[in-house]
Amino acid sequence: MIDRRKFLKTGSLFTVASMFFSFGGQKLFALSSSKSIPNTTLNNGIKMPFLGFGTYSLLGDICVESVHQAILSGYRLIDTATIYGNEEFVGLGIKKSGINRADLFITSKVWVDDSGYQNTLKAFNTSIKKLGVEYLDLYLIHRPRGDVKGSWLAMEELYKQGKIKAIGVSNFELPQLEELLEYAKIKPVVNQIETHAFYHQHSSYKNLKKQDIQLEAWSPLAQGRNGLFTNKTLAEIGNKYGKSNAQISLRWHYQRGIVAIPRTEQKSHMIENLDIFDFELSDMDMKTITQLDLNKTQFPEWR
Ligand SMILES: NC(=O)c1ccc[n+]([C@@H]2O[C@H](COP(=O)([O-])OP(=O)(O)OC[C@H]3O[C@@H](n4cnc5c(N)ncnc54)[C@H](OP(=O)(O)O)[C@@H]3O)[C@@H](O)[C@H]2O)c1
Repeated sequence: MIDRRKFLKTGSLFTVASMFFSFGGQKLFALSSSKSIPNTTLNNGIKMPFLGFGTYSLLGDICVESVHQAILSGYRLIDTATIYGNEEFVGLGIKKSGINRADLFITSKVWVDDSGYQNTLKAFNTSIKKLGVEYLDLYLIHRPRGDVKGSWLAMEELYKQGKIKAIGVSNFELPQLEELLEYAKIKPVVNQIETHAFYHQHSSYKNLKKQDIQLEAWSPLAQGRNGLFTNKTLAEIGNKYGKSNAQISLRWHYQRGIVAIPRTEQKSHMIENLDIFDFELSDMDMKTITQLDLNKTQFPEWR
């Protein structure tokens, strides 16, 4: 069951925000309009929002309500995966929002257990059924394990059939990407990898730019690990602009040309995380954040 008290608390914040809008508040208008989220153009010409909504670990009513509220707040990119076990709930949240399918950018991912040509075709069909959609905007190989080539060929086939608008990979290191590029007839549009203020992914960042493959950051807030939300350096930068550590982190991703998909169950955080397009970090701020790089994962248990 959904934690109603938590939603009432955060929901009331949204009510205040809505009142602000109804009194002509320009700033909120910018927040609640998806038009305020800029797009990147992928290497196949498809447009993808630079900021989206992550759904890892959101389940049941909490997931339905979070996705619904995220869409109402202005998010259009929704990131899920078979392994999250929540595609059905994500689909219900989308349905509840009443939004036009064409206005959304929905990503899912094929899990390791479903690698290989036939398994991937089957997994894709299960995913769209659970999500209640006819096509995906982006489908990713979640991890480079098992029969990656078979999965990729199946994804190319689905892409040709128009059932996926764009295909890509996740958690691919450079050699794994090189190997895929040797047989791929269609180049991946995205590599979704762990990237945040403490892990800048310098070599992948450079290589993906060179290859014209969009870097998408998973755990763009490092799930708050290593004290991201209280980090002094981020806070000092944030004080100059009246922004939180989360907002500085997300703005930093955007200025590096990275797509970020923060997750939150809280309406106030959904709104806060969207409010990053009205200021610009200086070159000096960007350099200062460079010094936070620990050049290693914050999620060793997922390796
Ligand atoms: N491809 C992959 O292998 C892979 C791996 C991991 C994640 N992902 C994707 O990336 C998405 C994002 O990563 P993630 O979910 O691991 O972590 P994340 O987005 O880096 O962090 C989520 C955490 O940050 C908190 N938070 C969010 N906004 C906040 C704010 N403004 N102030 C304070 N706290 C805030 C959330 O708590 P509250 O709910 O309390 O706000 C939550 O605990 C996932 O949901 C998933 O879609 C993909």
